[in-house]
This record gives sequence, structure tokens and C-alpha cells, in this order.
Amino acid sequence: MGGAPKDMDQAARQDDDVVALLLEQHSMIREQFGTVNGSRGALKQKAFDELRAMLAVHETAEEMIVRPAAADTAGKAEADARNQEEAAATKVLADLEKMDVDSTEFDTKFAEFQRSVLAHAEHEENEEFPPLRAGKSEEELRTMGQRLRSVEKMAPTHPHPTAAGSPKAQWLTGPFASMMDRARDALSRT
Ligand SMILES: [Fe+2]
Ligand SMILES: [Fe+2]
Repeated sequence: MGGAPKDMDQAARQDDDVVALLLEQHSMIREQFGTVNGSRGALKQKAFDELRAMLAVHETAEEMIVRPAAADTAGKAEADARNQEEAAATKVLADLEKMDVDSTEFDTKFAEFQRSVLAHAEHEENEEFPPLRAGKSEEELRTMGQRLRSVEKMAPTHPHPTAAGSPKAQWLTGPFASMMDRARDALSRT
């Protein structure tokens, strides 16, 4: 505790709470879907690439940090269902990556992808996060949140002008599957 004022301790705790951090990422992801839909050409490609980077970090963190804990709290069937939804989304994303972002083909597939990612996020919010929060101690939730934060530091999960071209942003390029591999590597070191 280091003698910090009590209200600061409280704030730090809430900042690192894994569920609060995941909910924050969900809202950034929802917003980024809107940015992709509202853009054209190079800007749309950039927004889509940023969305892929956000999802690579987010879904990998959920798979490695949240799911094992959720299997204890929400149950194995719930954790397996969420992992399957994520695997299905990864496949659709691989198809989207090969398309021209300004094609009708892309828009149709992207709309389907958006529906499944947002439905998946809602399932997590309704079925996975509440039992996780209820079933784990504050300390455990904070430790999970700190792991999530350490990966966020290595990988900006939201668009940030100064991140463009920086070494931090470099590892979140290329196909989604490679981003996931790098996020997994980074997380396994935490
Ligand atoms: Fe997820
Ligand atoms: Fe999620």
C-alpha cells in the first residue's frame, strides 16, 4: 500500500480491475466499427487495420487471462462457447483481409462480422463477466487487469496519432493470425 492516500488506492484498484478494462475495450471496439463503416478508401483501410489490432490484443487477452478464470466461475461450457465464437470471428477476419475495403463484398462480409463480434461481446458482458467479478477476489481481478495493461502498453489498442510508425505499433501489422501470435507471445511473458 506504501502509505498512499486511501482514495488513490481505491482509484488504482478500479483502474486495474480486469472487468472494467475489458468493458472499456468493448466500447472502443464498438466505436471503431462505426469509424470503419463511416470511412472510405485509405482511411477505411487504416480504420480496419486499427480495429484488427485492437481485436488481436483484446481477444487474445480474453483467451489467455479471462477464459481460464471464467471456466471456474461461469463454467466450462460458457468458456468453451466464447472461445468458439472467437475462433469463428478469426476465420471471417482472414477472409476480410483479402478484400478491397471499398467493395460491396467487403461491406456485406464486414456487416456480418460486426454482428457476430458485437453479439459475442454481449454474451461476455451478460454471461461471463458478472460471475467472474463475483467469483474472484479484488486482488485476483486486479492481477488479471495488470497483465492486460502490460500488453496494452506494448500494443496501443486504440488509434493514437503518435503511435503511427513507432516501434510499438510495428508488431501489430500483417495478417490477423500473426498479430494474435505476437499478442500471445507478449502475454505469455507477463
Ligand atoms: Fe471475446
Ligand atoms: Fe470481449
